[in-house]
Amino acid sequence: MTRHRDTVVLHAGHGPASSAGPFAPALQFASTFVAPGNPAAHELTYGRFHNPTWTVWEDALGLLEGGPAVSFASGMAAVSAVLGACLKPGDIVVLPDDAYYTIRRVAEGWLTRIGVQVRLAPTRGNAQATALDGARLVWVETPSNPLLEVCDIREIVRAAHASNVEVVVDNTTATPYLQQPLHLGADYVVASDTKALTGHSDLVLGHVATTSEERAGALRTWRNQHGAIPGPMEVWLAHRSLATLPLRLTQQCRSAQTLAEFLHAHTGVARVHYPGLPDHPAHVVARGQMDAFGSVVSFDLETQARADTFLRSLTLVREATSFGGVLSTAERRARWGGDAVGEGFIRFSVGCEAVEDILDDVGGALGAAG
Ligand SMILES: Cc1ncc(COP(=O)(O)O)c(C=O)c1O
Repeated sequence: MTRHRDTVVLHAGHGPASSAGPFAPALQFASTFVAPGNPAAHELTYGRFHNPTWTVWEDALGLLEGGPAVSFASGMAAVSAVLGACLKPGDIVVLPDDAYYTIRRVAEGWLTRIGVQVRLAPTRGNAQATALDGARLVWVETPSNPLLEVCDIREIVRAAHASNVEVVVDNTTATPYLQQPLHLGADYVVASDTKALTGHSDLVLGHVATTSEERAGALRTWRNQHGAIPGPMEVWLAHRSLATLPLRLTQQCRSAQTLAEFLHAHTGVARVHYPGLPDHPAHVVARGQMDAFGSVVSFDLETQARADTFLRSLTLVREATSFGGVLSTAERRARWGGDAVGEGFIRFSVGCEAVEDILDDVGGALGAAG
């Protein structure tokens, strides 16, 4: 019997209903295990190699993603593992020029230094599909952070696989609840689990899922050798938070759509970026590969002065970075540098508050910003 997706998420990583034992999985902190003689004879030996709490979490992630999953200390640790395990000197990697800026920094710094050629192309219009010549890997981020550009995953996969290029999708903004890149043909999906997947702004984690045990094994070897291992406590908390993903994200996406429409109709807002709006350049593509459009809405107030006044005037929404949490946040993205956005560009993360309260707060702050 095929169960509803929400039920699958809720039960992911828990045993069958008939099995005896505690509801909550055990939390294992041990850094070492009794393991005499031949280490290969033991399932558990040392805490950098394996941990039963990781295994439960990775089983849950694997179920949601549709392939074996490997958990990492952060989204960036997961990103670096894929880049490091897949690329060697002389390879070409195609990155979105609007990817999360730290990924571009890592590529331009570390990858270039070890002799990997980094080629940039926009997410918009599937431009990466026309930049694949001689490449080893194409890295896709859709919807992208913070501009929420969307590309067609199936189309990129088709072009890439025809040229023997592997495809990685950074699925952070969507989560596997809204979009499942492995089912759309990608070879790897990578994500920051610091964001909506766990949603409580109380941990930093990341993961990679892929299509074969061989690929997952190479990532585990990378994690073991480079030491980018997740903390057991964070992993346990992440698993606990996963159960409410459908409830949280369903409400957040619904409210984000309402907020995007409100901002779109507001004369004080120059531009709104949200794939759920019919005038988003890739709205139709997003509809074809996402179940809903996510919890982040970006918009442009044109000047730093107006954006600062807007942020200062919010009384419910907190000014903070990151996104996907149950509490709404907003920030002026240009304060960090690195993104091709104007000084008045706001990235807004819609939380689980009643949407009337979010609209009330945003409306009041827009009024103050003039
Ligand atoms: C799209 C995307 N990928 C990766 C990361 C890195 O994740 P972390 O901060 O967990 O290292 C982020 C963080 O904001 C992100 O937005």
